[in-house]
Amino acid sequence: MVLIGQIKWSALLLAIVVSSLCLALPLDDEREVLIRKEEMLQIGGELLLTEQEELANEKLKALKKVEINEAMKKNQFPPSMHFFRAKKLIEESKVFHVLKKMPKGAALHLHDFGILSVDWLVRNVTYRPHCHLCFTPSGNLKFRFADPAPPTPKPEDCSEWILLEKYRRQLQNVTEFDNSLLQNFTLVLENPERAYSDQAVIWTRFENIFITVDGLVHYAPVFREYFARGLQEFYEDNVQYLELRATLYPVYELNGQTYDQEWSLKTYQEVAQKFARDHPDFIGVKIIYSDHRMKDVSHIAKSVQTAMNLKVKFPEIMAGFDLVGQEDKGHSLWQLKEALLFPATQGFDLPYFFHAGETDWQGTPIDENILDALILNTTRIGHGFALSRHPMARNISWNRDIPIEVCPISNQVLQLVSDLRNHPAASLMASGHPMVVSSDDPSVFGAKGLSYDFYEVFMAIGGMKADLRTLKQLALNSIKYSSLSADKKKTTEEVWQKKWDKFVELAGQIKL
Ligand SMILES: *[C@@H]1O[C@H](CO)[C@@H](O)[C@H](O)[C@H]1NC(C)=O
Ligand SMILES: *[C@@H]1O[C@H](CO)[C@@H](O)[C@H](O)[C@H]1NC(C)=O
Ligand SMILES: *[C@@H]1O[C@H](CO)[C@@H](O)[C@H](O)[C@H]1NC(C)=O
Ligand SMILES: *[C@@H]1O[C@H](CO)[C@@H](O)[C@H](O)[C@H]1NC(C)=O
Ligand SMILES: *[C@@H]1O[C@H](CO)[C@@H](O)[C@H](O)[C@H]1NC(C)=O
Ligand SMILES: [Zn+2]
Repeated sequence: MVLIGQIKWSALLLAIVVSSLCLALPLDDEREVLIRKEEMLQIGGELLLTEQEELANEKLKALKKVEINEAMKKNQFPPSMHFFRAKKLIEESKVFHVLKKMPKGAALHLHDFGILSVDWLVRNVTYRPHCHLCFTPSGNLKFRFADPAPPTPKPEDCSEWILLEKYRRQLQNVTEFDNSLLQNFTLVLENPERAYSDQAVIWTRFENIFITVDGLVHYAPVFREYFARGLQEFYEDNVQYLELRATLYPVYELNGQTYDQEWSLKTYQEVAQKFARDHPDFIGVKIIYSDHRMKDVSHIAKSVQTAMNLKVKFPEIMAGFDLVGQEDKGHSLWQLKEALLFPATQGFDLPYFFHAGETDWQGTPIDENILDALILNTTRIGHGFALSRHPMARNISWNRDIPIEVCPISNQVLQLVSDLRNHPAASLMASGHPMVVSSDDPSVFGAKGLSYDFYEVFMAIGGMKADLRTLKQLALNSIKYSSLSADKKKTTEEVWQKKWDKFVELAGQIKL
Protein backbone atom coordinates (compact mmCIF):
# COMPACT_ATOMS: atom_id res chain seq x y z
CA MET A 1 0.00 0.00 0.00
CA VAL A 2 2.70 2.37 1.09
CA LEU A 3 4.85 1.52 -1.88
CA ILE A 4 2.04 1.90 -4.32
CA GLY A 5 1.10 5.13 -2.64
CA GLN A 6 4.60 6.43 -2.99
CA ILE A 7 4.78 5.45 -6.61
CA LYS A 8 1.48 7.10 -7.25
CA TRP A 9 2.56 10.25 -5.48
CA SER A 10 5.83 10.57 -7.37
CA ALA A 11 4.04 9.81 -10.63
CA LEU A 12 1.66 12.63 -9.87
CA LEU A 13 4.54 14.94 -9.04
CA LEU A 14 6.27 13.99 -12.25
CA ALA A 15 3.09 14.64 -14.17
CA ILE A 16 2.79 18.11 -12.63
CA VAL A 17 6.38 18.98 -13.34
CA VAL A 18 6.14 17.77 -16.92
CA SER A 19 2.85 19.47 -17.58
CA SER A 20 3.95 22.78 -16.09
CA LEU A 21 7.12 22.57 -18.14
CA CYS A 22 5.07 21.97 -21.23
CA LEU A 23 2.55 24.67 -20.36
CA ALA A 24 5.19 27.25 -19.55
CA LEU A 25 5.99 27.93 -23.16
CA PRO A 26 2.48 27.96 -24.67
CA LEU A 27 1.20 30.30 -21.95
CA ASP A 28 4.06 32.71 -22.50
CA ASP A 29 3.50 32.49 -26.21
CA GLU A 30 -0.21 33.00 -25.88
CA ARG A 31 0.32 36.07 -23.72
CA GLU A 32 2.89 37.43 -26.12
CA VAL A 33 0.52 36.93 -29.04
CA LEU A 34 -2.30 38.70 -27.21
CA ILE A 35 -0.11 41.67 -26.39
CA ARG A 36 1.14 41.89 -29.97
CA LYS A 37 -2.39 41.66 -31.31
CA GLU A 38 -3.56 44.51 -29.12
CA GLU A 39 -0.57 46.61 -30.11
CA MET A 40 -1.42 46.03 -33.76
CA LEU A 41 -5.03 47.10 -33.18
CA GLN A 42 -4.28 50.48 -31.63
CA ILE A 43 -4.14 53.61 -33.74
CA GLY A 44 -1.07 53.47 -35.95
CA GLY A 45 -0.34 49.94 -34.76
CA GLU A 46 0.06 48.64 -38.28
CA LEU A 47 2.37 51.39 -39.51
CA LEU A 48 5.87 50.27 -40.37
CA LEU A 49 8.47 52.80 -39.39
CA THR A 50 11.61 53.63 -41.32
CA GLU A 51 14.96 53.25 -39.65
CA GLN A 52 15.06 57.00 -38.98
CA GLU A 53 11.57 56.88 -37.52
CA GLU A 54 12.49 53.94 -35.30
CA LEU A 55 15.36 55.95 -33.89
CA ALA A 56 13.11 58.96 -33.24
CA ASN A 57 10.54 56.65 -31.71
CA GLU A 58 13.08 55.21 -29.27
CA LYS A 59 13.97 58.72 -28.13
CA LEU A 60 10.36 59.79 -27.81
CA LYS A 61 9.38 56.65 -25.92
CA ALA A 62 12.28 57.16 -23.54
CA LEU A 63 11.22 60.76 -22.82
CA LYS A 64 7.66 59.63 -22.27
CA LYS A 65 8.70 56.84 -19.93
CA VAL A 66 10.76 59.19 -17.78
CA GLU A 67 7.88 61.65 -17.48
CA ILE A 68 5.30 58.97 -16.70
CA ASN A 69 7.54 57.36 -14.08
CA GLU A 70 8.10 60.75 -12.52
CA ALA A 71 4.34 61.39 -12.52
CA MET A 72 3.69 58.07 -10.81
CA LYS A 73 6.30 58.77 -8.20
CA LYS A 74 5.02 62.26 -7.43
CA ASN A 75 1.42 61.26 -7.99
CA GLN A 76 1.12 64.32 -10.20
CA PHE A 77 0.14 63.55 -13.79
CA PRO A 78 -0.85 66.63 -15.85
CA PRO A 79 -3.60 64.86 -17.89
CA SER A 80 -5.25 63.80 -14.63
CA MET A 81 -5.31 67.40 -13.44
CA HIS A 82 -7.55 70.22 -14.59
CA PHE A 83 -5.93 71.85 -17.61
CA PHE A 84 -5.83 75.27 -15.92
CA ARG A 85 -3.50 73.81 -13.31
CA ALA A 86 -1.76 71.34 -15.64
CA LYS A 87 -0.80 73.91 -18.26
CA LYS A 88 2.39 75.08 -16.55
CA LEU A 89 3.52 71.51 -15.95
CA ILE A 90 2.76 70.58 -19.57
CA GLU A 91 4.92 73.47 -20.72
CA GLU A 92 7.82 71.99 -18.75
CA SER A 93 7.41 68.61 -20.42
CA LYS A 94 10.05 67.55 -22.94
CA VAL A 95 7.46 65.42 -24.70
CA PHE A 96 5.33 68.53 -25.14
CA HIS A 97 8.23 70.36 -26.76
CA VAL A 98 8.67 67.54 -29.22
CA LEU A 99 4.95 67.60 -29.99
CA LYS A 100 5.09 71.33 -30.66
CA LYS A 101 7.70 70.71 -33.35
CA MET A 102 5.75 67.86 -34.90
CA PRO A 103 3.88 68.65 -38.13
CA LYS A 104 0.33 67.80 -37.14
CA GLY A 105 -1.44 68.03 -40.49
CA ALA A 106 -4.91 69.48 -40.09
CA ALA A 107 -7.01 70.88 -37.25
CA LEU A 108 -10.52 69.89 -38.26
CA HIS A 109 -12.62 70.95 -35.26
CA LEU A 110 -12.26 74.65 -34.46
CA HIS A 111 -14.65 77.56 -34.04
CA ASP A 112 -14.36 81.00 -35.63
CA PHE A 113 -13.53 83.05 -32.51
CA GLY A 114 -11.69 80.56 -30.35
CA ILE A 115 -8.50 80.25 -32.38
CA LEU A 116 -6.38 83.23 -31.26
CA SER A 117 -4.86 83.95 -27.84
CA VAL A 118 -6.81 86.80 -26.30
CA ASP A 119 -3.88 89.11 -25.47
CA TRP A 120 -4.05 90.88 -28.80
CA LEU A 121 -7.77 91.57 -28.37
CA VAL A 122 -7.11 93.34 -25.10
CA ARG A 123 -3.80 95.07 -25.79
CA ASN A 124 -4.41 96.09 -29.36
CA VAL A 125 -8.09 95.92 -30.33
CA THR A 126 -9.66 97.50 -27.24
CA TYR A 127 -7.08 100.31 -27.50
CA ARG A 128 -8.19 101.29 -31.00
CA PRO A 129 -10.10 104.55 -31.37
CA HIS A 130 -13.92 104.58 -31.35
CA CYS A 131 -14.25 101.48 -29.20
CA HIS A 132 -17.30 101.60 -26.90
CA LEU A 133 -18.33 99.31 -24.12
CA CYS A 134 -21.40 98.69 -21.96
CA PHE A 135 -22.11 96.60 -18.85
CA THR A 136 -24.93 94.10 -18.56
CA PRO A 137 -26.77 93.65 -15.25
CA SER A 138 -25.20 90.19 -14.85
CA GLY A 139 -21.70 91.68 -15.01
CA ASN A 140 -20.87 90.92 -18.62
CA LEU A 141 -19.43 93.34 -21.13
CA LYS A 142 -20.32 94.23 -24.70
CA PHE A 143 -18.23 96.19 -27.20
CA ARG A 144 -18.93 98.17 -30.34
CA PHE A 145 -16.86 100.37 -32.64
CA ALA A 146 -18.69 103.39 -34.05
CA ASP A 147 -17.99 106.79 -35.58
CA PRO A 148 -19.08 109.53 -36.12
CA ALA A 149 -22.34 108.72 -34.28
CA PRO A 150 -22.30 106.54 -31.15
CA PRO A 151 -23.29 102.94 -31.75
CA THR A 152 -26.85 102.13 -32.68
CA PRO A 153 -29.13 100.57 -31.80
CA LYS A 154 -28.98 101.32 -28.10
CA PRO A 155 -27.85 98.15 -26.38
CA GLU A 156 -30.64 96.02 -25.09
CA ASP A 157 -30.15 94.88 -21.51
CA CYS A 158 -26.89 96.82 -21.17
CA SER A 159 -25.80 100.19 -19.77
CA GLU A 160 -25.32 103.24 -22.03
CA TRP A 161 -22.38 102.95 -24.40
CA ILE A 162 -19.19 104.40 -22.92
CA LEU A 163 -16.20 105.37 -25.03
CA LEU A 164 -13.51 102.99 -23.80
CA GLU A 165 -10.73 105.55 -24.21
CA LYS A 166 -12.60 107.90 -21.90
CA TYR A 167 -13.44 105.10 -19.48
CA ARG A 168 -9.78 104.07 -19.21
CA ARG A 169 -8.73 107.70 -18.53
CA GLN A 170 -10.83 107.83 -15.40
CA LEU A 171 -9.63 104.49 -14.03
CA GLN A 172 -7.11 104.43 -11.24
CA ASN A 173 -5.48 101.23 -12.33
CA VAL A 174 -5.66 100.42 -16.03
CA THR A 175 -3.53 97.28 -15.68
CA GLU A 176 -6.07 95.86 -13.32
CA PHE A 177 -8.87 96.64 -15.75
CA ASP A 178 -7.00 95.11 -18.68
CA ASN A 179 -6.40 91.98 -16.63
CA SER A 180 -10.12 91.81 -15.97
CA LEU A 181 -10.73 92.02 -19.71
CA LEU A 182 -8.35 89.12 -20.28
CA GLN A 183 -10.39 87.19 -17.76
CA ASN A 184 -13.62 88.11 -19.50
CA PHE A 185 -12.32 86.59 -22.73
CA THR A 186 -11.39 83.13 -21.38
CA LEU A 187 -12.71 80.55 -18.92
CA VAL A 188 -9.37 80.41 -17.15
CA LEU A 189 -9.27 81.05 -13.41
CA GLU A 190 -7.63 79.65 -10.34
CA ASN A 191 -10.28 77.39 -8.90
CA PRO A 192 -12.49 76.17 -11.76
CA GLU A 193 -14.21 73.48 -9.69
CA ARG A 194 -15.50 76.09 -7.27
CA ALA A 195 -16.31 78.83 -9.79
CA TYR A 196 -18.08 76.53 -12.23
CA SER A 197 -20.32 74.41 -10.06
CA ASP A 198 -21.85 72.46 -12.94
CA GLN A 199 -22.04 72.13 -16.72
CA ALA A 200 -24.88 74.63 -17.02
CA VAL A 201 -22.87 77.29 -15.19
CA ILE A 202 -19.77 76.84 -17.27
CA TRP A 203 -21.72 76.71 -20.53
CA THR A 204 -23.40 80.01 -19.68
CA ARG A 205 -19.99 81.59 -19.08
CA PHE A 206 -18.63 79.91 -22.21
CA GLU A 207 -21.37 81.32 -24.43
CA ASN A 208 -21.10 84.72 -22.73
CA ILE A 209 -17.48 84.91 -23.80
CA PHE A 210 -18.56 84.75 -27.43
CA ILE A 211 -21.23 87.38 -26.81
CA THR A 212 -18.59 89.58 -25.16
CA VAL A 213 -16.03 89.37 -27.96
CA ASP A 214 -18.75 89.58 -30.64
CA GLY A 215 -18.57 93.36 -31.03
CA LEU A 216 -14.78 93.32 -31.23
CA VAL A 217 -14.24 90.50 -33.68
CA HIS A 218 -17.09 91.45 -36.02
CA TYR A 219 -15.66 94.91 -36.64
CA ALA A 220 -14.44 94.55 -40.24
CA PRO A 221 -10.73 95.41 -39.80
CA VAL A 222 -10.52 93.26 -36.66
CA PHE A 223 -12.42 90.41 -38.34
CA ARG A 224 -9.75 90.14 -41.05
CA GLU A 225 -6.83 90.51 -38.69
CA TYR A 226 -8.20 88.14 -36.06
CA PHE A 227 -8.46 85.42 -38.67
CA ALA A 228 -4.99 86.07 -40.14
CA ARG A 229 -3.45 86.05 -36.66
CA GLY A 230 -5.34 82.87 -35.78
CA LEU A 231 -3.90 81.18 -38.85
CA GLN A 232 -0.46 82.41 -37.83
CA GLU A 233 -0.85 80.90 -34.37
CA PHE A 234 -1.79 77.50 -35.79
CA TYR A 235 0.92 77.73 -38.44
CA GLU A 236 3.50 78.38 -35.74
CA ASP A 237 2.20 75.34 -33.90
CA ASN A 238 2.98 73.29 -37.04
CA VAL A 239 -0.55 72.86 -38.37
CA GLN A 240 -0.83 72.86 -42.17
CA TYR A 241 -4.55 73.19 -42.78
CA LEU A 242 -7.71 74.20 -40.87
CA GLU A 243 -11.44 73.60 -41.02
CA LEU A 244 -13.34 76.24 -39.13
CA ARG A 245 -16.94 76.16 -37.94
CA ALA A 246 -18.20 79.70 -38.50
CA THR A 247 -21.53 81.32 -37.73
CA LEU A 248 -21.01 84.10 -40.30
CA TYR A 249 -22.81 86.69 -38.17
CA PRO A 250 -22.84 90.20 -39.68
CA VAL A 251 -19.55 92.04 -39.84
CA TYR A 252 -19.82 95.83 -39.49
CA GLU A 253 -17.94 99.02 -40.31
CA LEU A 254 -17.34 102.11 -38.18
CA ASN A 255 -20.28 103.92 -39.82
CA GLY A 256 -22.68 101.11 -38.95
CA GLN A 257 -22.80 99.52 -42.38
CA THR A 258 -23.06 95.72 -42.13
CA TYR A 259 -22.15 92.87 -44.44
CA ASP A 260 -23.87 89.59 -45.16
CA GLN A 261 -22.68 85.98 -44.96
CA GLU A 262 -21.29 86.03 -48.49
CA TRP A 263 -19.04 88.92 -47.57
CA SER A 264 -17.71 87.05 -44.54
CA LEU A 265 -17.07 83.89 -46.51
CA LYS A 266 -15.35 85.85 -49.28
CA THR A 267 -13.21 87.62 -46.70
CA TYR A 268 -12.23 84.32 -45.08
CA GLN A 269 -11.25 83.09 -48.51
CA GLU A 270 -9.17 86.17 -49.35
CA VAL A 271 -7.33 86.18 -46.04
CA ALA A 272 -6.67 82.43 -46.22
CA GLN A 273 -5.41 82.69 -49.80
CA LYS A 274 -3.09 85.54 -48.92
CA PHE A 275 -1.80 83.62 -45.93
CA ALA A 276 -1.15 80.55 -48.08
CA ARG A 277 0.66 82.70 -50.66
CA ASP A 278 2.89 84.16 -47.94
CA HIS A 279 3.43 80.72 -46.39
CA PRO A 280 3.81 78.17 -49.20
CA ASP A 281 3.89 75.29 -46.71
CA PHE A 282 0.40 76.22 -45.51
CA ILE A 283 -2.41 74.60 -47.47
CA GLY A 284 -5.44 76.69 -46.52
CA VAL A 285 -8.78 76.76 -44.79
CA LYS A 286 -12.31 75.54 -45.31
CA ILE A 287 -15.38 76.85 -43.56
CA ILE A 288 -18.22 74.81 -42.08
CA TYR A 289 -21.19 77.14 -41.84
CA SER A 290 -22.79 76.65 -38.42
CA ASP A 291 -25.97 77.81 -36.77
CA HIS A 292 -27.07 77.54 -33.15
CA ARG A 293 -28.92 74.36 -32.18
CA MET A 294 -31.26 76.32 -29.86
CA LYS A 295 -33.00 77.82 -32.91
CA ASP A 296 -36.22 76.22 -34.08
CA VAL A 297 -36.66 74.03 -37.09
CA SER A 298 -38.00 76.77 -39.37
CA HIS A 299 -34.98 78.93 -38.65
CA ILE A 300 -32.59 76.02 -39.21
CA ALA A 301 -34.38 75.27 -42.49
CA LYS A 302 -33.42 78.76 -43.65
CA SER A 303 -29.82 78.29 -42.54
CA VAL A 304 -29.64 75.00 -44.43
CA GLN A 305 -30.89 76.83 -47.50
CA THR A 306 -28.23 79.50 -46.94
CA ALA A 307 -25.61 76.80 -46.63
CA MET A 308 -26.74 75.31 -49.93
CA ASN A 309 -26.50 78.70 -51.66
CA LEU A 310 -23.08 79.36 -50.18
CA LYS A 311 -21.90 75.92 -51.26
CA VAL A 312 -22.84 76.74 -54.85
CA LYS A 313 -21.25 80.20 -54.79
CA PHE A 314 -18.10 79.32 -52.86
CA PRO A 315 -17.38 75.67 -53.65
CA GLU A 316 -13.68 76.12 -52.83
CA ILE A 317 -13.94 77.25 -49.25
CA MET A 318 -17.38 76.11 -48.17
CA ALA A 319 -17.21 72.59 -46.72
CA GLY A 320 -20.69 72.09 -45.31
CA PHE A 321 -22.99 72.64 -42.35
CA ASP A 322 -23.10 72.03 -38.59
CA LEU A 323 -25.02 73.03 -35.46
CA VAL A 324 -23.28 74.54 -32.43
CA GLY A 325 -24.12 75.34 -28.80
CA GLN A 326 -24.63 73.14 -25.76
CA GLU A 327 -26.09 69.87 -26.98
CA ASP A 328 -27.81 69.11 -23.70
CA LYS A 329 -29.77 72.36 -23.91
CA GLY A 330 -30.48 72.57 -27.64
CA HIS A 331 -32.70 70.70 -30.06
CA SER A 332 -31.74 67.17 -30.92
CA LEU A 333 -30.82 66.51 -34.54
CA TRP A 334 -33.96 64.41 -34.78
CA GLN A 335 -36.12 67.38 -33.78
CA LEU A 336 -34.54 69.31 -36.62
CA LYS A 337 -34.68 66.48 -39.14
CA GLU A 338 -37.17 68.17 -41.43
CA ALA A 339 -34.70 70.97 -42.05
CA LEU A 340 -31.69 68.69 -42.22
CA LEU A 341 -33.26 66.23 -44.68
CA PHE A 342 -34.10 69.00 -47.14
CA PRO A 343 -30.87 68.95 -49.21
CA ALA A 344 -31.17 65.18 -49.75
CA THR A 345 -34.75 65.57 -51.02
CA GLN A 346 -33.40 68.06 -53.58
CA GLY A 347 -30.60 65.72 -54.59
CA PHE A 348 -28.20 68.36 -53.24
CA ASP A 349 -24.96 67.29 -51.59
CA LEU A 350 -24.52 69.36 -48.45
CA PRO A 351 -21.90 67.65 -46.29
CA TYR A 352 -22.69 67.63 -42.57
CA PHE A 353 -20.17 67.81 -39.75
CA PHE A 354 -22.43 67.41 -36.76
CA HIS A 355 -21.35 67.92 -33.19
CA ALA A 356 -22.90 64.82 -31.65
CA GLY A 357 -22.72 62.97 -28.37
CA GLU A 358 -21.06 65.80 -26.44
CA THR A 359 -22.91 64.66 -23.34
CA ASP A 360 -22.64 62.56 -20.20
CA TRP A 361 -26.37 61.73 -20.24
CA GLN A 362 -26.48 58.29 -21.76
CA GLY A 363 -29.77 57.14 -23.26
CA THR A 364 -31.34 60.58 -23.67
CA PRO A 365 -32.50 61.93 -27.05
CA ILE A 366 -29.43 64.18 -26.96
CA ASP A 367 -27.18 61.17 -26.52
CA GLU A 368 -28.94 59.67 -29.54
CA ASN A 369 -27.71 62.59 -31.64
CA ILE A 370 -24.84 60.31 -32.42
CA LEU A 371 -27.18 57.85 -34.16
CA ASP A 372 -29.02 60.71 -35.88
CA ALA A 373 -25.77 62.22 -37.11
CA LEU A 374 -24.87 58.91 -38.77
CA ILE A 375 -28.34 58.47 -40.25
CA LEU A 376 -28.04 61.97 -41.67
CA ASN A 377 -24.77 60.95 -43.34
CA THR A 378 -22.48 63.13 -41.30
CA THR A 379 -18.98 63.32 -42.79
CA ARG A 380 -17.32 63.44 -39.36
CA ILE A 381 -18.65 63.41 -35.79
CA GLY A 382 -17.80 66.48 -33.71
CA HIS A 383 -16.52 65.14 -30.36
CA GLY A 384 -18.47 61.87 -30.48
CA PHE A 385 -17.85 61.72 -26.76
CA ALA A 386 -20.75 59.24 -26.36
CA LEU A 387 -19.72 56.98 -29.25
CA SER A 388 -18.15 54.20 -27.20
CA ARG A 389 -21.49 53.65 -25.44
CA HIS A 390 -23.30 52.98 -28.72
CA PRO A 391 -22.26 49.67 -30.22
CA MET A 392 -24.27 50.18 -33.39
CA ALA A 393 -23.06 53.73 -33.92
CA ARG A 394 -19.54 52.57 -33.25
CA ASN A 395 -20.00 49.88 -35.83
CA ILE A 396 -21.40 52.23 -38.48
CA SER A 397 -18.72 54.80 -37.79
CA TRP A 398 -16.09 52.08 -38.21
CA ASN A 399 -17.60 50.44 -41.28
CA ARG A 400 -18.24 53.73 -43.10
CA ASP A 401 -14.94 55.18 -41.93
CA ILE A 402 -16.58 58.22 -40.31
CA PRO A 403 -14.11 59.65 -37.78
CA ILE A 404 -14.74 61.33 -34.48
CA GLU A 405 -13.04 64.66 -33.73
CA VAL A 406 -11.57 64.27 -30.26
CA CYS A 407 -10.98 67.54 -28.35
CA PRO A 408 -9.76 66.42 -24.91
CA ILE A 409 -9.12 69.79 -23.25
CA SER A 410 -12.51 71.08 -24.32
CA ASN A 411 -14.17 67.96 -22.87
CA GLN A 412 -12.31 68.36 -19.61
CA VAL A 413 -12.87 72.11 -19.18
CA LEU A 414 -16.56 71.74 -20.08
CA GLN A 415 -16.78 69.04 -17.41
CA LEU A 416 -17.57 65.89 -19.38
CA VAL A 417 -14.58 64.09 -17.87
CA SER A 418 -12.01 65.10 -15.29
CA ASP A 419 -9.11 62.64 -15.49
CA LEU A 420 -8.21 62.39 -19.17
CA ARG A 421 -6.98 58.81 -18.74
CA ASN A 422 -10.70 58.05 -18.46
CA HIS A 423 -11.67 59.81 -21.68
CA PRO A 424 -13.97 57.46 -23.65
CA ALA A 425 -11.77 57.83 -26.72
CA ALA A 426 -9.23 55.64 -24.90
CA SER A 427 -11.19 52.54 -25.85
CA LEU A 428 -11.57 53.81 -29.42
CA MET A 429 -7.86 54.56 -29.74
CA ALA A 430 -7.06 51.11 -28.45
CA SER A 431 -9.09 49.57 -31.26
CA GLY A 432 -7.82 51.90 -33.99
CA HIS A 433 -11.15 53.64 -34.48
CA PRO A 434 -11.16 56.42 -37.11
CA MET A 435 -10.39 59.67 -35.32
CA VAL A 436 -8.64 63.00 -35.48
CA VAL A 437 -7.45 65.27 -32.68
CA SER A 438 -8.50 68.89 -32.48
CA SER A 439 -8.72 71.76 -30.01
CA ASP A 440 -12.25 73.25 -30.39
CA ASP A 441 -11.70 76.73 -28.85
CA PRO A 442 -8.14 76.71 -27.55
CA SER A 443 -8.02 80.44 -26.74
CA VAL A 444 -11.05 80.19 -24.46
CA PHE A 445 -9.49 77.26 -22.58
CA GLY A 446 -6.16 79.06 -22.20
CA ALA A 447 -4.49 76.71 -24.68
CA LYS A 448 -2.96 77.51 -28.04
CA GLY A 449 -2.91 75.75 -31.39
CA LEU A 450 -3.10 71.96 -31.30
CA SER A 451 -0.10 70.78 -29.29
CA TYR A 452 -1.71 70.79 -25.85
CA ASP A 453 -4.48 68.49 -27.03
CA PHE A 454 -1.93 66.24 -28.75
CA TYR A 455 -0.07 66.04 -25.46
CA GLU A 456 -3.19 64.86 -23.61
CA VAL A 457 -3.92 62.28 -26.29
CA PHE A 458 -0.34 61.05 -26.48
CA MET A 459 0.31 60.88 -22.75
CA ALA A 460 -3.07 59.81 -21.37
CA ILE A 461 -5.81 58.77 -23.80
CA GLY A 462 -3.50 56.63 -25.92
CA GLY A 463 -1.94 55.04 -22.85
CA MET A 464 1.65 54.08 -22.24
CA LYS A 465 2.00 52.38 -25.60
CA ALA A 466 1.03 55.33 -27.77
CA ASP A 467 4.21 56.11 -29.71
CA LEU A 468 5.46 57.76 -32.87
CA ARG A 469 3.21 55.50 -34.94
CA THR A 470 0.18 56.80 -33.07
CA LEU A 471 1.21 60.38 -33.77
CA LYS A 472 1.95 59.69 -37.41
CA GLN A 473 -1.39 57.98 -37.91
CA LEU A 474 -3.26 60.84 -36.24
CA ALA A 475 -1.54 63.36 -38.51
CA LEU A 476 -2.25 61.23 -41.59
CA ASN A 477 -5.86 60.82 -40.45
CA SER A 478 -6.29 64.58 -40.22
CA ILE A 479 -5.46 64.89 -43.92
CA LYS A 480 -7.40 61.80 -44.95
CA TYR A 481 -10.60 62.88 -43.17
CA SER A 482 -10.45 66.53 -44.25
CA SER A 483 -12.80 68.00 -46.85
CA LEU A 484 -9.96 68.57 -49.30
CA SER A 485 -10.29 67.08 -52.78
CA ALA A 486 -8.34 63.90 -53.51
CA ASP A 487 -5.75 65.96 -55.41
CA LYS A 488 -5.33 68.48 -52.61
CA LYS A 489 -5.03 65.70 -50.05
CA LYS A 490 -2.15 64.34 -52.04
CA THR A 491 -0.37 67.72 -52.16
CA THR A 492 -1.04 68.26 -48.48
CA GLU A 493 0.40 64.88 -47.62
CA GLU A 494 3.51 65.70 -49.65
CA VAL A 495 3.95 69.03 -47.87
CA TRP A 496 3.38 67.26 -44.57
CA GLN A 497 5.78 64.39 -45.39
CA LYS A 498 8.67 66.80 -46.03
CA LYS A 499 8.09 68.43 -42.68
CA TRP A 500 7.68 65.04 -41.04
CA ASP A 501 11.02 63.80 -42.36
CA LYS A 502 12.72 66.88 -40.96
CA PHE A 503 10.95 66.43 -37.65
CA VAL A 504 11.96 62.78 -37.46
CA GLU A 505 15.57 63.66 -38.13
CA LEU A 506 15.49 66.25 -35.36
CA ALA A 507 13.75 63.90 -32.92
CA GLY A 508 16.36 61.24 -33.67
CA GLN A 509 19.03 63.62 -32.38
CA ILE A 510 17.40 64.21 -29.00
CA LYS A 511 19.97 63.80 -26.23
CA LEU A 512 18.57 61.70 -23.44
C1 LIG B 1 -2.57 97.40 -33.37
O1 LIG B 1 -1.74 96.66 -34.23
C2 LIG B 1 -1.56 97.24 -35.50
C3 LIG B 1 -0.72 96.32 -36.32
O2 LIG B 1 -1.38 95.13 -36.50
C4 LIG B 1 -0.89 98.60 -35.36
O3 LIG B 1 -0.77 99.21 -36.62
C5 LIG B 1 -1.71 99.47 -34.45
O4 LIG B 1 -1.02 100.68 -34.20
C6 LIG B 1 -2.00 98.76 -33.13
N1 LIG B 1 -2.92 99.58 -32.39
C7 LIG B 1 -2.81 99.80 -31.10
C8 LIG B 1 -3.82 100.69 -30.52
O5 LIG B 1 -1.93 99.28 -30.44
C1 LIG C 1 -2.43 97.93 -10.57
O1 LIG C 1 -2.89 96.59 -10.57
C2 LIG C 1 -1.88 95.65 -10.81
C3 LIG C 1 -2.54 94.29 -11.00
O2 LIG C 1 -3.54 94.08 -10.07
C4 LIG C 1 -0.87 95.69 -9.68
O3 LIG C 1 0.13 94.74 -9.89
C5 LIG C 1 -0.29 97.08 -9.60
O4 LIG C 1 0.54 97.20 -8.48
C6 LIG C 1 -1.38 98.13 -9.50
N1 LIG C 1 -0.79 99.45 -9.67
C7 LIG C 1 -1.06 100.46 -8.86
C8 LIG C 1 -0.39 101.73 -9.19
O5 LIG C 1 -1.81 100.33 -7.92
C1 LIG D 1 -15.15 91.44 -16.77
O1 LIG D 1 -14.67 92.77 -16.66
C2 LIG D 1 -15.41 93.57 -15.76
C3 LIG D 1 -14.89 95.00 -15.88
O2 LIG D 1 -13.60 95.12 -15.42
C4 LIG D 1 -15.26 93.01 -14.36
O3 LIG D 1 -16.02 93.76 -13.47
C5 LIG D 1 -15.73 91.56 -14.36
O4 LIG D 1 -15.45 90.98 -13.11
C6 LIG D 1 -15.02 90.75 -15.42
N1 LIG D 1 -15.63 89.43 -15.52
C7 LIG D 1 -14.91 88.32 -15.43
C8 LIG D 1 -15.66 87.03 -15.56
O5 LIG D 1 -13.71 88.30 -15.28
C1 LIG E 1 -27.52 59.15 -46.83
O1 LIG E 1 -26.85 58.34 -47.77
C2 LIG E 1 -27.64 57.30 -48.28
C3 LIG E 1 -26.76 56.42 -49.12
O2 LIG E 1 -25.99 57.20 -50.01
C4 LIG E 1 -28.83 57.88 -49.03
O3 LIG E 1 -29.64 56.85 -49.49
C5 LIG E 1 -29.61 58.79 -48.09
O4 LIG E 1 -30.64 59.45 -48.80
C6 LIG E 1 -28.72 59.82 -47.46
N1 LIG E 1 -29.47 60.56 -46.44
C7 LIG E 1 -29.33 61.85 -46.24
C8 LIG E 1 -30.16 62.43 -45.17
O5 LIG E 1 -28.56 62.54 -46.88
C1 LIG F 1 -20.23 45.23 -36.67
O1 LIG F 1 -19.61 45.23 -37.94
C2 LIG F 1 -18.94 44.04 -38.29
C3 LIG F 1 -18.34 44.21 -39.64
O2 LIG F 1 -17.32 45.15 -39.59
C4 LIG F 1 -19.89 42.88 -38.23
O3 LIG F 1 -19.19 41.68 -38.50
C5 LIG F 1 -20.56 42.80 -36.88
O4 LIG F 1 -21.51 41.78 -36.85
C6 LIG F 1 -21.22 44.11 -36.54
N1 LIG F 1 -21.76 44.08 -35.19
C7 LIG F 1 -23.02 44.36 -34.94
C8 LIG F 1 -23.42 44.32 -33.51
O5 LIG F 1 -23.81 44.62 -35.81
ZN1 LIG G 1 -17.01 72.42 -31.13
